Amino acid sequence: MYINFWYPIAKSEEITAEKPLKIEILSLNFVAFRDEAGQAHVLSDICVHRGGSLGEGWIQDDCVVCPYHGWRYGGDGKCTTIPSIGYEGKPPARAKVDSYPVQEKYGIVFAFLGDLSAEERPPLLEIEEYGTGEWRHSEVIVLNVDYYYERSIENGLDPAHNEFVHPTHGFSGAKSDYRVPDFDLKDLELGCYCGGAMESSEYKDDTMKQVRDGAGKTVAGTGTHGPNSMYTYINFTPENAFHQYMWEAPINENQTRIFFLNLRNCMLDPGMDERVLERNLEIAHQDIAILSKLDPIRTPYSNTREVLMPADKAVARYREWMKGWERRGWRIDVGTLRSKRGDIGFAIPSPDRRTSGNWVLDEIPLLPESAEQRATADDAATG
Ligand code: FES
Ligand SMILES: [Fe+2]
Repeated sequence: MYINFWYPIAKSEEITAEKPLKIEILSLNFVAFRDEAGQAHVLSDICVHRGGSLGEGWIQDDCVVCPYHGWRYGGDGKCTTIPSIGYEGKPPARAKVDSYPVQEKYGIVFAFLGDLSAEERPPLLEIEEYGTGEWRHSEVIVLNVDYYYERSIENGLDPAHNEFVHPTHGFSGAKSDYRVPDFDLKDLELGCYCGGAMESSEYKDDTMKQVRDGAGKTVAGTGTHGPNSMYTYINFTPENAFHQYMWEAPINENQTRIFFLNLRNCMLDPGMDERVLERNLEIAHQDIAILSKLDPIRTPYSNTREVLMPADKAVARYREWMKGWERRGWRIDVGTLRSKRGDIGFAIPSPDRRTSGNWVLDEIPLLPESAEQRATADDAATG
């Protein structure tokens, strides 16, 4: 798991000005709430007074109130009120928690969990076709799954599983001349894209037959963006397509919350929404059934712990991208985190930590920057 990326926190309607929402992401707790102006805020959940859980509290005067002794924190994370010194008293500068940059789009509230400045931040995966007349989007679908998010992204980059996991568009091993068609792999700004013509283009299901004209093969591909988001384009014909977007929130090392949106430029009749959703979920659950049973449930640290084949080249490339972010010092040291939890309260460092001191909670442990990275920094320092 990595800091310094945008993570989906909750669907827009789940974050309100009536009640704080407590949510676990990257093995830590956060609290999300709205102020009266409607702006969503995401803060670290741990009250710096004595460790109360802000997400268990309530909202008053645009602040989240700790249920233990009533300290109030504004959307910027600063404590505004400490009842024990009187409601007019001035809280000390150290009375603050990390507050994270927020973006609300596509019916989802995203937070940037990291300390990079606005100019340095890797961007959110955007949907260019969203809201344009030619495309119809689904509601936001949230899937809670019992496996590590990297296994989920790798599954999206894996053209060999379709044949076996999705009987709706594969031959399930019944075709003796089967092999995975060649596919292109290319690097993108923050990940990789793999795609090409699919082996099976004969849909066995009536809905999908409608969008195909019987000519040519379906062309499909998946692109990744950062460690935790991806999209899949399925072009049934050059004109008729599904574009699917997934932003994933690792809840912890064992569980993931996937936010999914399907866009389509065919079957635009709203009456088709339910059928399309049903089909999306049917396919998602075919993947979930397999991925929940993987052992280990997390991606192994080294490729030598598995036997990768040419059809796994996109998976291998995704893992190289992850190593690159680890070299930047962004990978969470889950071993240290696990061993110190309970003794130490941790927070993901927010951008404010770059410009001000006096923070009470420890920063989440990160794997050290690599020797290579340190050498580059040293070279720069010594000119
Ligand atoms: S622990 Fe939060 S107010 Fe005391
Ligand atoms: Fe799949």
